[in-house]
Amino acid sequence: MSRWVIRAASRSDLFDVEKIERCCFAAPRRSSRRALRHSLTSPHQHVWVAESRALGKREMAGVLILRRHPLSLRIFSLAVLPAYRGHGIGRALLLRALREARRQRRRYVTLEADLRDASLIRWYANVGFEKTRRLLDYYAPGRHAWRMRCRLPVRK
Ligand SMILES: CC(C)(COP(=O)(O)OP(=O)(O)OC[C@H]1O[C@@H](n2cnc3c(N)ncnc32)[C@H](O)[C@@H]1OP(=O)(O)O)[C@@H](O)C(=O)NCCC(=O)NCCS
Repeated sequence: MSRWVIRAASRSDLFDVEKIERCCFAAPRRSSRRALRHSLTSPHQHVWVAESRALGKREMAGVLILRRHPLSLRIFSLAVLPAYRGHGIGRALLLRALREARRQRRRYVTLEADLRDASLIRWYANVGFEKTRRLLDYYAPGRHAWRMRCRLPVRK
């Protein structure tokens, strides 16, 4: 596995962020280009990318999009290209979300996960997320989700 780094995204990453969305999510779950452009420019969202750097070549391997809410950060998108999976990039992006939430003194990080994807739900549970609510027809009719939440320690 090549070396990779996590960095904040900028507007010029739109093309690659969109490519990852397309590769990682089925059409009903994908964000539009317009929504992704908004994520990259909005002061209420944060976008990080994992970039592989091998032999002077850079390739975007994964994306994390966070939305700010008054008490929490919500993971709006987390995806790693299939070729880069299983090397800890997803976990590093997830931990980045938790670290950012602590830095902003948010109390929770929330997300939605496909209710049928037991390994994904276990993966989130392993870093401290718990299921809080079943969201019926969340992705499409008959495609339900779990809302999950990771509670963060209150800092004085
Ligand atoms: C979920 C995802 C981001 C994980 O990325 P990653 O870089 O492979 O993550 P890591 O390498 O840190 O962790 C890999 C672990 O995740 C587990 N995992 C997580 N989600 C999984 C899934 N949907 N199917 C199978 N395994 C999954 C693997 O079993 C593996 O476990 P192991 O380390 O014990 O072998 C990636 O699988 C992905 O992009 N999936 C498609 C998009 C998606 O479902 N995103 C979540 C939206 S809620």
